[in-house]
Amino acid sequence: MSQGLFLTFEGPDGGGKTTQITRLAERLTVQGYTVTRTREPGGDLVGEKVRDLLLHGAVSPEAELLLFAAARAQNVEAVVRPALEAGHVVLCDRFTDSTIAYQGYGRGLPLDLIARLNAFATRGLMPDKTFLLDLPPATGLSRQRASEQDRLDRETLDFHQRVRSGFLETVKADPDRIAVLDASRPALDIADRLWAILEPLLPPLTTVS
Ligand code: TYD
Repeated sequence: MSQGLFLTFEGPDGGGKTTQITRLAERLTVQGYTVTRTREPGGDLVGEKVRDLLLHGAVSPEAELLLFAAARAQNVEAVVRPALEAGHVVLCDRFTDSTIAYQGYGRGLPLDLIARLNAFATRGLMPDKTFLLDLPPATGLSRQRASEQDRLDRETLDFHQRVRSGFLETVKADPDRIAVLDASRPALDIADRLWAILEPLLPPLTTVS
């Protein structure tokens, strides 16, 4: 068992994940926790290169799934596990649930294959808690500037609706791990609700480096 705490953040683009992760990182740091922040695809140099391929290249659905899995394997091994072993609170912007929602429900790739790839890429590491910032796709997309949109953001509204229902299915499958937050609420309200859920899970500060 790791000594740290592994938190992941999921939901559509435009749902305010970055704002919440930034606020939470500050709050945890002020309290004395050591925070490691990472993202998928991304994390280290290899992950960031895969991110660039994925978000801006012409990639087939099968290659897309395998590249997300590759980026995840690298992020877990190079960033997440070492940080957890050092007792950090790890905040990861997207993780396995994004692959289920985007590649599984969005693209229609086989869910059983995705489950096996997720387990392989993470070597079974699961988040201690996941926060799903849920938002109707039209609202999320309207909050984004066209210049900020990546290849997946430019998919149809129908695709994004399937992705949303995919995320809601992950909650049904694992309701204890995944907390749903209404991303249409003001950012401060969301941060308060998130903190109320997280606080009881935080390790005592004496055991955190
Ligand atoms: P994100 O970092 O949230 O994008 P941005 O910085 O533009 O807000 O995520 C990148 C994109 O990758 C996003 O459109 C969702 C997609 N994605 C998948 O399709 N599958 C995955 O497994 C992951 C991790 C992300």
